[in-house]
Amino acid sequence: MTTFDIPSLDEVHSTVPESDSLPGRCVPYHLSAGEGERYQLGGQLLTVIARPQDTGGQFGAAYVYGGAGVETPFVQHSDEFRFLYVTDGRLQVWLPGETNILVAGDAVSIPPGTPYAYRMLAYRTRFLSWLTVGDGHSWGAESGTATQSHVFDISADQNVSDARQSELAAQYGIRVLDLEKKDLPSSSGSILPQSNSAYVLRAGEGDRWASMDQLNTYLARSRNTDSTYFAMHTSGGKSPYIPLHFHRQHTENFFCLEGRILLHANGKEILLTKGDFLHAPAGTVHSFSFAGHSTQMLGLLTTGVFEKFFEYMNRPTEAHVHVEGGDMTFPGEGFGRARAELDLEVVGPPPTPGG
Ligand SMILES: [Fe+2]
Repeated sequence: MTTFDIPSLDEVHSTVPESDSLPGRCVPYHLSAGEGERYQLGGQLLTVIARPQDTGGQFGAAYVYGGAGVETPFVQHSDEFRFLYVTDGRLQVWLPGETNILVAGDAVSIPPGTPYAYRMLAYRTRFLSWLTVGDGHSWGAESGTATQSHVFDISADQNVSDARQSELAAQYGIRVLDLEKKDLPSSSGSILPQSNSAYVLRAGEGDRWASMDQLNTYLARSRNTDSTYFAMHTSGGKSPYIPLHFHRQHTENFFCLEGRILLHANGKEILLTKGDFLHAPAGTVHSFSFAGHSTQMLGLLTTGVFEKFFEYMNRPTEAHVHVEGGDMTFPGEGFGRARAELDLEVVGPPPTPGG
């Protein structure tokens, strides 16, 4: 069994995040869009932005970028949940009994043991791929060819034979299945299931909560992931920093989908724009603010321990976008409840932008 280098909370507190390289151990780090380990993989560019050794074995993450017509066979992961969030283009995904065409803002959750496949339908299709464990990306990397390029090569052949690819897959807990891609009905994609079954969630749908002109949408809840992570989409206009804090038990991952996000991480201020990523493992002293109109952020938090925070801080809403001009009062009561009940240690007031 693989063991990972997990520094103490004190060591994480004092680690200023490096930019644009993978650390090889579980510390805070930041990657600009396009940075990470890159592989050409049969017409797709795989950009690995988090490997198991960078996250203490909690997850792996990558961007997948490709052109119309690129497709995968049906596969099935024995241990990993996979979560895909489409940022550009159109992606057709087959799940048991259904097939769905996803566009920017749509997400799909695929539990272990579920056969699935995808096909890209537009040039410049891109999605974020999240895997608990992260072995699936290692399979992709090993089946592909390392590259310094930041764009996919549509003419690049698969680097290994189908037989060799299946053999490699088995080493990473993945089975390649000989199933046909049929014309199947699509899902409404409007609700999160009550259990850990596979689902599609379309942009603007789902379990939505609002306050301070921000809309918070659960894209995956603990019940959907066996409490390994939950996914939160936040959209809103400009907003101030929240109080500086850290978590003892969970990792927070910030992905900028649109607009501008200012992050404070162990004393360093970092601006995120589309495609940028910050990994803030337990112990990282952090805060964020939205620095642009109509900013969108995806938060993927491991484990599910902090899920209730967004319920404590917000009210349920039927809105599909954030509102402007509402009540901007900080929900102090909800924040107090979160400090008392959840994994939240406040260490200072909101930082000053630029400070
Ligand atoms: Fe946090």
